[in-house]
Amino acid sequence: MKTRLTERFEIEHPVLLSGMSWISTPEMVAAVCNAGGLGILATGVLSGDDTRDYIRRARELTDRPFAANTTLYFPGAERNAQILLDEKVPVVNYSLGKGDWICEAVHAYGGKVIATVTTHKHAKAAMRDGADALIVTGYEAGGHGGAVTSLVLVPAIADAVEIPVIAAGGFADGRGLAAALALGADGIAMGTRFMNTTESPVHDSAKQMSIAKTVQDTIYTNRVDGLPARVAKNTGAARLMRSRFGLLAAIKNSREIARMLGFPWAKLAAGILLSGPKKSMQMARMANGFTAFRVGTTEGDQRRGVLPLGQVTGLVNDTPSAAEVVTRVVAEAEEICGKLVNK
Ligand SMILES: Cc1cc2nc3c(=O)[nH]c(=O)nc-3n(C[C@H](O)[C@H](O)[C@H](O)COP(=O)(O)O)c2cc1C
Repeated sequence: MKTRLTERFEIEHPVLLSGMSWISTPEMVAAVCNAGGLGILATGVLSGDDTRDYIRRARELTDRPFAANTTLYFPGAERNAQILLDEKVPVVNYSLGKGDWICEAVHAYGGKVIATVTTHKHAKAAMRDGADALIVTGYEAGGHGGAVTSLVLVPAIADAVEIPVIAAGGFADGRGLAAALALGADGIAMGTRFMNTTESPVHDSAKQMSIAKTVQDTIYTNRVDGLPARVAKNTGAARLMRSRFGLLAAIKNSREIARMLGFPWAKLAAGILLSGPKKSMQMARMANGFTAFRVGTTEGDQRRGVLPLGQVTGLVNDTPSAAEVVTRVVAEAEEICGKLVNK
């Protein structure tokens, strides 16, 4: 299937694997890229060495273009972003920060940049900064999504920018891809759908949960890590919603984060404190959210953990391979588009 996105990024199909921590690994990314889509490696919870290893492993597993993400707001993100640039990752995806320096460096080595946005203001800013495409994430999305539904946000931003738009949040099948194209998008990115695939390293309980849950079974809340996020309705989320913020837990959890990111804890803590009281508080909340997300995703403990999950979980009923998802979504969309035109 050809769109502005496939042309610009030299991929076969306008289907992206979203960057999901602990899930969008080199194996997952390569499976999607080898099926003609574009996979985004998640680097948010990786040390510098692991980020480099992930990129190199992805390169071994696919000779197609692949992407890697950086969430600029998080500790360690600028260091990991610099590694993406040093390694000349073909497509860099950034969010929650100013990406002009990323666009400049990536374009200098001939790569492409995708910015993830949830508002008009950030969409316009990313276009001015030089992004080659935008992922526009609506309210339906698992994890951190916008406050406006994809049905409204995608066409509004598609009208406001001249670069390709990738719709995210609420897409799981060919109906979704066809609808996104009709809304003015040039492709879709999927998280919840790809989380439940044979290659996905998420804990099996999360896969089962994504099959069992209906479209009503998620919550949109800022009580997990301080930013609005959509998560599965489970015991862990209910406990977090009731509990008060715990500073001691945040200190303990920040030690785990420092270990994962490969920073001395004192350096991480000093960096956060120097960023001012408001951001320090936000980071303390994030530390608690981070551990809840890790437990829900990798340990599958849904009593202690929290699992990011999109509303579209209600449309996910099986565990196919990642390649099957790509080919199925595209085949369904082509059939639907043909029927709509020939009516
Ligand atoms: C299990 C899971 C983990 C996620 N982890 C991250 C993450 O670490 N960083 C991030 O920016 N977004 C994360 N997301 C959000 C996705 O990148 C994407 O925006 C979202 O899944 C799209 O909506 P959908 O779930 O309806 O497909 C995650 C989503 C899911 C379902």
